[in-house]
Amino acid sequence: MAIIASNFKTNHTRKTTKEFVCNVNEYLKNNEILSEVIVFPTSTSLDNFDTVSNLIIGTQNAYAVHKGSYTGEIGTEQLDEFSIKTILIGHSERRHILGETQEEVAQKFNFYKQLGYKIVYCIGEPLEVKKEGLQNTLEYIYEQFVGIDTNYENLILAYEPVWAIGTGVTATNEDIINIHNAIKEKISKPLLYGGSVKVNNVREICSLDNVDGALIGTASWNQEDFIKIIENTKDI
Ligand code: 13P
Repeated sequence: MAIIASNFKTNHTRKTTKEFVCNVNEYLKNNEILSEVIVFPTSTSLDNFDTVSNLIIGTQNAYAVHKGSYTGEIGTEQLDEFSIKTILIGHSERRHILGETQEEVAQKFNFYKQLGYKIVYCIGEPLEVKKEGLQNTLEYIYEQFVGIDTNYENLILAYEPVWAIGTGVTATNEDIINIHNAIKEKISKPLLYGGSVKVNNVREICSLDNVDGALIGTASWNQEDFIKIIENTKDI
């Protein structure tokens, strides 16, 4: 069964998130869809949503702390209020825009691992690295596993090439196959692809060998499109 995840990034309000989650939940319930669906709203839109068991709400980020003095961050005290037990870690926007180092990413990973969270862990190379060829790209990606327990039972990986995120440029099937095969040889965990996945290419991408689902930004923010994406992959 495919794993289909939506990363809201900095989009949607509490009101529209609630509508989105309710409608996706109704769709999953009424159509007996078995795929695992994960939605990562903004932290201001987290809530106690009443959902079917295969619709999971996760947080896009949190600090590696229960509570304390970390202005602008949230910790597990805030996540516990909404029974959130799923977190996205290592997204390229946090690495490259917010400046999270591999050391910080690994520290966060280990903190949430100890608490048993489901972790969707992102890896992926920028364009200048891709241009250096497959070997260098893989070396760059392997550096993003430093300090990460790749045997962690609740781990899902997401390969998201930075040059394909939000650009409309999807990686070619060959790009995806090359990277996914290489990662899967080393790490036997579910591996999602992310980067300009759309309604009309999600089925083809998720049908590739060693692709276990998709992590989607832009195309997932419209609830009708997100439901179509789930529909298009329901039997994969
Ligand atoms: P896009 O689907 O907008 O390219 O974003 C992908 C992504 O970053 C998901 O985490």
